[in-house]
Amino acid sequence: MRKSIIIGNWKMNKLSKEAIDFVKAVDGNLHDGADFGIAPTYTALAAAREHASNLIVAAQNVHYQPSGAYTGEISIEMLKELNVEWVILGHSERRQYFNETDAEINKKVKACLEHGLTPIVCVGELLEEFEAGKTEEVVRRQVHDCLVGVEGNVQSIVVAYEPVWAIGTGKSATVEIAQNTCALVRDELKKVFNEEVAEAIRIQYGGSVKPSNIKEYMAQPDIDGALIGGASLKVDSFLEIVEAVK
Ligand code: 13P
Repeated sequence: MRKSIIIGNWKMNKLSKEAIDFVKAVDGNLHDGADFGIAPTYTALAAAREHASNLIVAAQNVHYQPSGAYTGEISIEMLKELNVEWVILGHSERRQYFNETDAEINKKVKACLEHGLTPIVCVGELLEEFEAGKTEEVVRRQVHDCLVGVEGNVQSIVVAYEPVWAIGTGKSATVEIAQNTCALVRDELKKVFNEEVAEAIRIQYGGSVKPSNIKEYMAQPDIDGALIGGASLKVDSFLEIVEAVK
């Protein structure tokens, strides 16, 4: 039985003080029906981590090298120094604006598992790929190329399917599209790993998830949670989501 997992990806939002206020308001109002977490910016991670007892605190990126001449980058050890044990990898905004490739994401996933950090690996097709009927091809390729050769506690990996056309647009994928694509993510996980691992890995849907639609997604057999942008930024809306998945 897979436990649901709901993560708020805050992207480039919130100062440390705002993160602390949020954590104080939310951390004591969760329940055991799902894992809940937030992914603040690097500069707010320490503050969020310090105040969170129940919320997972995730970074939004990490480098795969342990140290060295990589100006502007953050290592796994640096996150672990803050007691941050989760990280989002390969978000479409990192792929689109910072040219992150599946090959780099693959190196990051390997480094994370090697050093005890749990990755949330994002995949998802662009609008033109969706319109050209290439969703399956793109998503299978991304899952394969990001995860091939990964060893260790692979069951702990979370995969987030986020169709790029549904992110921040208010145009969420239909429940049918989300379920079908998450099912093929799971099928590809079977090929990359094996059936047992594929059944254990949690798959999230992301893209314009909000309190009013999260229940429908979570009712689907292959959707085990959500990666949420906009609707995760406000305490009220986050707590409505917490309530909705009770
Ligand atoms: P929105 O929920 O704002 O569409 O963002 C989704 C997302 O990119 C989460 O990682």
